[in-house]
Amino acid sequence: MIQKLIQTKEFLLDRFKKGSFEIGMISGTGLDPVTERIETEAVVPYEEIPNFPRSTVKGHRGMLKSGTISGRTILAMEGRFHLYEGYSPEQVVFPVRVMALLGVKYLFISSAAGGLNPLFSTGELMLITDHINLMGRNPLVGPNLEEFGSRFPDMVEAYDPELIDIIEKKALSMGILLRKGVYVGVLGPSLETRAETRFLRLIGADAVGMSTVMENIAAVHAGIKVAAIAVLTNINLPDNMKKTSLEEIISVAKESAKKLALLWENVIKELSK
Ligand code: HPA
Repeated sequence: MIQKLIQTKEFLLDRFKKGSFEIGMISGTGLDPVTERIETEAVVPYEEIPNFPRSTVKGHRGMLKSGTISGRTILAMEGRFHLYEGYSPEQVVFPVRVMALLGVKYLFISSAAGGLNPLFSTGELMLITDHINLMGRNPLVGPNLEEFGSRFPDMVEAYDPELIDIIEKKALSMGILLRKGVYVGVLGPSLETRAETRFLRLIGADAVGMSTVMENIAAVHAGIKVAAIAVLTNINLPDNMKKTSLEEIISVAKESAKKLALLWENVIKELSK
């Protein structure tokens, strides 16, 4: 595993002509506009990157982008890998570990999710303050990668409190309505039944999605500070379930991704050196 990670790291250092990166970004379904504010230096399609999985999902571009915002170096994934595509947890988090080897200190995750909190509305942004892993997997299963972190990483601050603070203040000053809540990760790809939706709300989740959790765990293990924001592409209420389609999810995500891009840009400007 570590050899493959190093090989990919070397390839990217060569392609991007950079020694390291400070910030990592991951954007998902319909969220390509999130990386729009980056001053792009180079872009590499996933197919060209050794050991990278191949993206198979509609609404994902599958490009790794190198660039800057206010001079801060950024490595951004446009399109991510999901367990429901058939990838192993190791494959899903492979790019996060490559980011760690490239020096990334902060990871900003964007994802699409279904809102479970009845006070939330479609198109709103939810800052993830905590998660529940119901994906039935964990990327740290197997021999511990000592180069990255410890066997039993603490998850009490899985979403960095300082980043949460900066993001909340920025959203307020920018006039962006930012919800806050708990994200529950499920395997998918089928959406939730009414009974599952009721259960997920009951156990304390405010939004449900099929990503983010694996990436968060691998990043926390590697000592990367994580912030994550979900775009609520649909609202799921067990007593009033509406049908959702991928097309609808992508169209809502695209619209809200613009304000999310501006928010990330301003948060990055605020990061202490
Ligand atoms: N459920 C799970 N994942 C999702 C949803 C949903 O309703 N919407 C966007 N991603």
